[in-house]
Amino acid sequence: MYKFEELVSRFETYFNQRHFPANPGTLYDPVQDFLALGGKRVRPVLSLMGNELFDEILPDAWPLAAAVELFHNFTLIHDDIMDKAPLRRGKATVHAAYGEPTALLGGDVMLVVAYEYLNKIDSRYQKRIMQLFNRTAMEVCEGQQLDMDFEKSASVDMPAYIHMIELKTSVLLAASLRMGAILGGASENNQHHLYEFGRNLGIAFQVQDDYLDAFGDPDKFGKQVGGDIMANKKTFLMIHALQTADEPVKKELKQIMGTNEAGKVEKVLNIFRACGIDAWAKDLKDTYINKAFYHLEEIAVISARKKPLTELAAYLVQRDK
Ligand code: IPE
Ligand code: IPE
Ligand code: MG
Ligand code: MG
Ligand code: MG
Repeated sequence: MYKFEELVSRFETYFNQRHFPANPGTLYDPVQDFLALGGKRVRPVLSLMGNELFDEILPDAWPLAAAVELFHNFTLIHDDIMDKAPLRRGKATVHAAYGEPTALLGGDVMLVVAYEYLNKIDSRYQKRIMQLFNRTAMEVCEGQQLDMDFEKSASVDMPAYIHMIELKTSVLLAASLRMGAILGGASENNQHHLYEFGRNLGIAFQVQDDYLDAFGDPDKFGKQVGGDIMANKKTFLMIHALQTADEPVKKELKQIMGTNEAGKVEKVLNIFRACGIDAWAKDLKDTYINKAFYHLEEIAVISARKKPLTELAAYLVQRDK
């Protein structure tokens, strides 16, 4: 069984090559450079681990992992346009550096190349993998739309938030695992529990992302800290503050959210801190990690095979980038 770091390195050996034609370089070079910046490579590794839980890593796992990582990078480039984000992976975002047309088209070509990789998969598995991939891709779009809708809504509650992050983030982690498990010949029941493991882990993963967006170290996180506050995102931090703060603080928070004044981020962070957000974040992550581990337990393979997934899950909710 391979650990996370080993699988990242094996994946990169396969993946770090040019995925696009040479011309026009004004389209393909920016997206190729974006892929080369790295990122944690969580989703492709989940596909590899989903496969290795049930079998040796099969040759088809590599194009599957590449497809998943390309799809993820496509969503990031378009997400950064929607979120007006200036920074990603410690560098200017694609739209900030090259303009929105290049970012839109660059994301589009990544999605097409992702399908080219899926097309390499053996026909024994391809239909099932493609079905899950496509359903997941639709769900990510639905989640992203809800995320944008919620910016303008004052009445988002915790269940609505969880539903939104499940769609925009966690189904892709879950599907990455399950597509690997399909290659590994897993039973329906084992696939189901692995998917549920990923879905719950993905929720905790996005909770950590939202926490880091407010309280992360900018040098490590690689994204603009405070971006969610600037955009009036309805993260669990904002929802918790709006639900638990005293009336005057709540009023102040709503007033600040209506502005884009200097010091907005710092003021909101102080309100978050005063609401005991750290303990709340930890509880929320624990809730979903425990659900995830329940489903991992239910998978009928010896527990030694589950160790890489257990370790990766623990890292993903503690990470600082
Ligand atoms: C960022 O995903 C988008 C979210 C769903 C939170 P990652 O944190 O996996 O981004 P990279 O690929 O490591 O940069
Ligand atoms: C993005 O959520 C989820 C997708 C890209 C589908 P965020 O908007 O929180 O991701 P980051 O923080 O920009 O990476
Ligand atoms: Mg974003
Ligand atoms: Mg977003
Ligand atoms: Mg975020």
